[in-house]
Amino acid sequence: MEDLLKVKAKIKEFTAECGHQKSLELLELLPTGKMLRSKLILKIAGVNEESIQLCAVVEMIHAASLLHDDVIDDAMTRRGKPSINAMYNNKTSIMFGDILYSIAFTKLTFMNLKIAYNISNAVTLLSIGEMIDVDLGETFNTDYDVYLDMIYKKTGSLIQASAASAAILAGLEESKYATYGRNLGIAFQMVDDILDITADEATLGKPAMADFKEGKVTIPYLKLYEELDNSGKERLKSLYKKDLNEEEIAWLKNSFATTKALKSSIELTQKLGFEAIEAIKDEGNLALIDIMQQMCDRKF
Ligand code: FPP
Ligand code: MG
Repeated sequence: MEDLLKVKAKIKEFTAECGHQKSLELLELLPTGKMLRSKLILKIAGVNEESIQLCAVVEMIHAASLLHDDVIDDAMTRRGKPSINAMYNNKTSIMFGDILYSIAFTKLTFMNLKIAYNISNAVTLLSIGEMIDVDLGETFNTDYDVYLDMIYKKTGSLIQASAASAAILAGLEESKYATYGRNLGIAFQMVDDILDITADEATLGKPAMADFKEGKVTIPYLKLYEELDNSGKERLKSLYKKDLNEEEIAWLKNSFATTKALKSSIELTQKLGFEAIEAIKDEGNLALIDIMQQMCDRKF
């Protein structure tokens, strides 16, 4: 999409302005993702200088959070390519994240105050979300509300702020778009959590079945735990954070295949998707329905 190229060019321009050659070199090594947040902003606010700048700011914050996340998760790949921490080291990944994050915040000071508030508040939430996620990695969490709060903060908050900020730019009703973004964001993270189980490494661009081993009891595991009998529950708990052998992987896959855990997780993402669309249904923006559907049906 031509418009996304404008966002990429703006990110490069913002980064070049800081006059640090190595940052520009590192930027070239960052694989571009789906740019969901930019697609959303441009479909709500249209394509103009202000919306492209907002996209660049949000994408830079998102990239910074992933540079930090890959250090926290010790992830060697990102979007199918070696991560910056793998190619360089943890320090480089953290510092480059700090640089992108700070440039984005400097640019935010030139923007509408309500937008600046929405975005900066979302970064506080996503940082808290990441901390909750890491802390949850210590225990086998079976509380759905705790999981939901974590994914809202970690992933939903910045998507919500992107949609709300785009609505502010376009003079539209902020709260409707915030609700849309919030539900879209939560569903997006749940789809990610489902794909960790259903997709393979080549499609995902990162190792599959990694969440449970990393200590993440995501929505399909929560649903599976609910459905299993007591001995199944105990078996599932005993596999938590373990390097699984073939027999254990087979048991897990069979459990997913013979219960409704995956099906009901998918239904939940569809329900959230419906709630997202419900919030903006009178706004006459069909592209937002498309974004929601693409997101639910995605394979990676
Ligand atoms: C990916 O989660 C992580 C996030 C969406 C947020 C990470 C946030 C921080 C590290 C806070 C710091 C923020 C800034 C702006 C510097 P995941 O590990 O579940 O997803 P993955 O499989 O894509 O890695
Ligand atoms: Mg991660």
